[in-house]
Amino acid sequence: MNSVQVRKTFLDFFESKNHHIVPSAPMIVKNDPTLMFTNAGMNQFKDIFLGNVPAVAPRVADTQKCLRVSGKHNDLEEVGHDTYHHTMFEMLGNWSFGDYFKKEAIAWSWELLTGIYKINPEKLYVTVFGGDKNDGTSIDEEAYEYWKEIVPESHILFGSKKDNFWEMGETGPCGPCSEIHVDIRDEAEQKIIPGRELVNQSHPLVIEIWNLVFIEFNRLSDGSLVPLPAKHVDTGMGFERLSMVLQGKKSNYDTDIFQPLIQEIARIAGKPYGLDEKTDIAMRVVADHLRAIAFAIADGQLPSNNKAGYVIRRILRRAVRYGYTFLSFNEPFINLLVPLLVEQMQGTFSELKTQQDLVIRVIREEEQAFLRTLSLGIQKFNHYITSNPGAKIIDGEFAFELFDTYGFPIDLTDLMAKENDWNVDMDGFKKGLEQQKARSRQAAAVDTADWVVLKEESETKFVGYDFLEAEAEIVKYRKIKTKGKEFYQIVLNQTPFYAESGGQLGDSGTLRSANETVIVEDTKKENNLVIHITSTLPSNLTSSFIASVDAEKRRLTANNHSATHLLHYALRQIVGTHVEQKGSLVDANHLRFDFSHFAKLTPEEIASVEKLVNQKIRANILLTEFREFPIKKAVEMGAMALFGEKYGDKVRVVRYGESVELCGGTHVPATGQIGMIKIVSEGAIAAGVRRIEAITADKAEEFINNQLSMIEQLNDLFKNTKDVVRSARQLIEENSDLHKKIEELNHEKIKNLITELASKINPINGINFIAYKSDLDSNSIKDLAYGLKNQVENLFFVSGSSVDDKANLSLMISENLVTGKNLNASVIIRELAKNIQGGGGGQPFYATAGGKNPKGLDMTFEKAKNILEQIKEAE
Ligand code: SER
Repeated sequence: MNSVQVRKTFLDFFESKNHHIVPSAPMIVKNDPTLMFTNAGMNQFKDIFLGNVPAVAPRVADTQKCLRVSGKHNDLEEVGHDTYHHTMFEMLGNWSFGDYFKKEAIAWSWELLTGIYKINPEKLYVTVFGGDKNDGTSIDEEAYEYWKEIVPESHILFGSKKDNFWEMGETGPCGPCSEIHVDIRDEAEQKIIPGRELVNQSHPLVIEIWNLVFIEFNRLSDGSLVPLPAKHVDTGMGFERLSMVLQGKKSNYDTDIFQPLIQEIARIAGKPYGLDEKTDIAMRVVADHLRAIAFAIADGQLPSNNKAGYVIRRILRRAVRYGYTFLSFNEPFINLLVPLLVEQMQGTFSELKTQQDLVIRVIREEEQAFLRTLSLGIQKFNHYITSNPGAKIIDGEFAFELFDTYGFPIDLTDLMAKENDWNVDMDGFKKGLEQQKARSRQAAAVDTADWVVLKEESETKFVGYDFLEAEAEIVKYRKIKTKGKEFYQIVLNQTPFYAESGGQLGDSGTLRSANETVIVEDTKKENNLVIHITSTLPSNLTSSFIASVDAEKRRLTANNHSATHLLHYALRQIVGTHVEQKGSLVDANHLRFDFSHFAKLTPEEIASVEKLVNQKIRANILLTEFREFPIKKAVEMGAMALFGEKYGDKVRVVRYGESVELCGGTHVPATGQIGMIKIVSEGAIAAGVRRIEAITADKAEEFINNQLSMIEQLNDLFKNTKDVVRSARQLIEENSDLHKKIEELNHEKIKNLITELASKINPINGINFIAYKSDLDSNSIKDLAYGLKNQVENLFFVSGSSVDDKANLSLMISENLVTGKNLNASVIIRELAKNIQGGGGGQPFYATAGGKNPKGLDMTFEKAKNILEQIKEAE
């Protein structure tokens, strides 16, 4: 069965069991401070489990793009070395939200694996949660009973909390799970050691393929478990592993998911796969990481220096590094594999096809940049080895610097050390690493208390599209401590506060009751929960409040947000329809819009875009808004959807004439309110991604007035000339003419000086010594020194000058003296510079030095003379 059929069979099966099939959520998580990437199929349903939103359907199934590289589920270091770990993988899953529970989940998993996929039941083992004393949980009897009905007891094992209790994080919904493991070893081996003895023993051929989680508890921050009112099912089956089993392979990398990529890597590397363990690992690393990076970029996450972007950059660098070290790729190569990946995956994940050009460009640029860093690091490494001869040990601190600054993993440093017969001080390196980890742990430590629930309310009603004030009651609150600061998060039953999302920053304002006012500093979203951030709690938490939004800030923010839509529209009109939004930031002061485009915008393009937006502003187009609008119809209307954004079946559409976008933000009632837009900058932020920054309304007016006032000041300076630009140009021309004249005069002066000095030679044992003190600048002195060198044989010319209380020295020695008398200007000048309290250097025939004591110049000349006299004595 090929992998496309494997995926389809799963979805068809659960559709036949009345499951609603949903698309994969983006791999990049937005609006969840606890998670950067989707790391399990259940992430997109977290809000349902938490009771923040109602379920889309009671039964759901899908295939989900997951990435496990950071946080609780982190497989990065294993990837490539074994045959079954991945960074990016697909998780097939079926869910019940308060609908069916253990009985059906167990029966259907067995039916699908053995009845439809036809896996021999004798090769399958199941595990059941055995209870945990500390948590006060007991054996999962219920699951055990259901399994016993279909699986012989010899194939049922009990597992500990570590293997059989699934939690998505430190706190939150969780529960016991039953895993299904498969033994794909050869028959002969199975006879020697029974499979059940190898379950959960990290054997590469006795592996877990499906995890059935029965969510029935909520873990609180003090570690205790409380039962959930509704019980849910969350299952996850590794698609790549399942394909391996069904295709009779012994490695995920041998399936039709990875082999085409690996064969292509082998082809361009000119090395076959399967011959050498090291190159095989490198090929697996590259094939795996390519998928992670490509899907992340297609989902809108560009590599960068922080957070999710940094994780993607690290994955990419790991792949480049393996390619560089083991496959001898020192030119970008990962981007060349993208078209093949797209061809393979576009049937299920069309975003990869649409974003292909961008993905290729971004990867290529990252590869180039990192290869440059690698080669700098290698130079640094070589320099270290040559300048510490005999040490034979790479200092731990230096190894850490290579790791931290040049992205060298320690095994690369170790490998390079071994190639030179050196070792690495591993303990020192580990110490550096530990210290760094401790620093970031401290910076990131967040202490989150449990919610204190005051009212049972399942959803916050957002009324902020229509009102800036609303009556509200507190549903729950909690205290957060981070970096020595303390604040509160408050959830209301209804709110006019817009929570930061879609690039628009959150509202601020107040919560007022009869006798007090609490400031809401910011509003954020955690999944779909609207959280009001305050530094104090109201003294009476159960009173009724007026939640009131800072109207001025909201108005300015709306100006910028609506202007962003018009800008997006204008860019597509003027620059082309390939322009797609790649990110945005909208606040009360300005707007920032990132979009895909491959060249710098010309000044004419910028002017046309700005002009078109301003026309639309002046046209005072009324807002048409559709709430709870079917997504299909919205797309038919031409609404712009963003990649990497998760949309439900019902969306909000914001339209100003021809500008139609899916958007949850707050906007102006009519475009005239924006006043005007002024683009203040345009530049690149990544390969193929550009950024425009702009201002609107009062800020734009202020900006233009400042420019005008600058022109006025210039006018004043030019005594109210008619044409200030012409006058400025004239001034610049005059200035450059004067410069030229000065240079000519200087030149003439130096020529005369050369003749004059050449006649004042003081011969010391055949060496033509000239000492000269002046206040000439360094360029003139250089001209003088070179001029004398051409005119005077056996020259030893020392010049001293003092400018602004600083002393400068220059020394010119004829080449024949450098070689014949072993005189080195660079060495001598260092000696001379001691008298002026300074230092310097240069070449053997010409060197310069600077110092802070001009009074020492005369002494310097004496010393120079002495040096020449000593040569005489030595001879
Ligand atoms: N959440 C569980 C897992 O990730 C099952 O889907 O394994």
